[in-house]
Amino acid sequence: MHAVTDELAPIDPTAFAQRYGPRALVAGGGVGLGAEYCRQIAATGIDLLIVDRDVAALDAIASEIRGGSTGVDVVTAAIDLGQPALQLLTALRAASEGLDIGLVVANAAWSPVGPFVDVELELHLTAIDVNCRAPVVLGHEFGRRMIRRGRGGLIFMSSLAAESGAAQVALYSATKAFDLVLAEGLWYELRDHGVDVVAIRPGSTRTPGWESSQPTQEFDGVMEPLDVVRDALAALGTTPSIAAGAANRAAEAFFRSLPRRDVIEMMSSITKDLVPAPH
Ligand SMILES: NC(=O)c1ccc[n+]([C@@H]2O[C@H](COP(=O)([O-])OP(=O)(O)OC[C@H]3O[C@@H](n4cnc5c(N)ncnc54)[C@H](OP(=O)(O)O)[C@@H]3O)[C@@H](O)[C@H]2O)c1
Repeated sequence: MHAVTDELAPIDPTAFAQRYGPRALVAGGGVGLGAEYCRQIAATGIDLLIVDRDVAALDAIASEIRGGSTGVDVVTAAIDLGQPALQLLTALRAASEGLDIGLVVANAAWSPVGPFVDVELELHLTAIDVNCRAPVVLGHEFGRRMIRRGRGGLIFMSSLAAESGAAQVALYSATKAFDLVLAEGLWYELRDHGVDVVAIRPGSTRTPGWESSQPTQEFDGVMEPLDVVRDALAALGTTPSIAAGAANRAAEAFFRSLPRRDVIEMMSSITKDLVPAPH
């Protein structure tokens, strides 16, 4: 295992495709980190099943990849990942019928921003549906299928926010801690079946979701989706979970050396200024 501040070795695209092909399902693949997963996975030669609720975003990323040089096959499915779990399972099974899925990225997330008691309960519950229930459904269904086929990979998107509670995003941080702990347990359970699992903890990353909640766009240390996804693909099969980016790995090591109260204060001094995105 690498030290916390190490740069990760880049993937070998051919070996990656052999291990995690022939097709990847990217949940929440329309924009931001999800769209970047689609680009980088396609670049290894793995076909795609892209799932998102935003049809225009799905069409845009699918035509971008079809128009590129990878030659991969791209299928899209407009699915609301926040729908009740059994309906979601039915929709995912229909979308993936006849497709051999070797890699799943549970990327979609949604979050209200605001004081916990001021946000309507229904919105908190929607965040739990998208950020927790959907990854459970994806991990359960495709984990089983991957165990049967004897190989595969599952990537769960957590966050540096999983490190502690923080003002205005208490529920979001809790959902990302859920994703982290779920993935780490699955990493252990599935490894003897040839299935690699990893949880990725990005810090601030320039995506539509991130930009919609920032009080200002003037930031140092914001990562680009390209670099986060490059780390995520490199980390799969090497570690149960990791922060994206060497600077975030160093920051995380520092946080972990502090009393939790100090971490909550530090995180909240930033998140208290986040602005609610339109729902
Ligand atoms: N960006 C960051 O700074 C950051 C930091 C730490 C962790 N992360 C994690 O990284 C992941 C991706 O983040 P991001 O910033 O790229 O997010 P984003 O810009 O908000 O994009 C998320 C994608 O998921 C889709 N999605 C949301 N709810 C959905 C639903 N109910 N059904 C289907 N699709 C849905 C979104 O569609 P719509 O556009 O229709 O909502 C969008 O295409 C998330 O798990 C997030 O928690 C991000």
